Amino acid sequence: MTSQHQILVLNGPNLQLLGTRKPDIYGCRSLADVEDRLRALASELGVAVDCRQSNHEGDLVDWIGSTQGRFSGIIINPGAYTHTSVAIRDAIEAVGLPAVEIHISNVHAREEFRHRSLIAPVCLGQISGMGTHGYELALRGVVAYLEQPAQA
Ligand code: DQA
Repeated sequence: MTSQHQILVLNGPNLQLLGTRKPDIYGCRSLADVEDRLRALASELGVAVDCRQSNHEGDLVDWIGSTQGRFSGIIINPGAYTHTSVAIRDAIEAVGLPAVEIHISNVHAREEFRHRSLIAPVCLGQISGMGTHGYELALRGVVAYLEQPAQA
């Protein structure tokens, strides 16, 4: 049993539409379904997740900025802010928590403007193209890191 790590799971703009938004790209699962699965996996792994979604950059920046002392790690799908947000990048860098960036689609196989992430350089790593299963991979990754940081 691990210590009770709290992991903050953030979803950015338009991800509340999962399940109906371009299912050929983003799949058929709703955000509520994805979050339920993550909570179940978190409980198996002996950690807890706090899942939040916002379409507003400032909300995401505020939530990241208030993680210190309360959370051990961050999983974030910044949506379109991936490609534009210096503020989210700076917030992650400032709090210094291990973060995993996740994208449902393979951003590198899509339009050129999606190829660049401003966030990835301040994250442990990026998961892209594994569908909504990517959230579970991100959780496993951040928990493994927290348990064995020397081997990450
Ligand atoms: C996304 C990829 C982004 O380019 C896009 O703006 C999104 C979703 C993904 O999960 O594949 O909103 O982050």
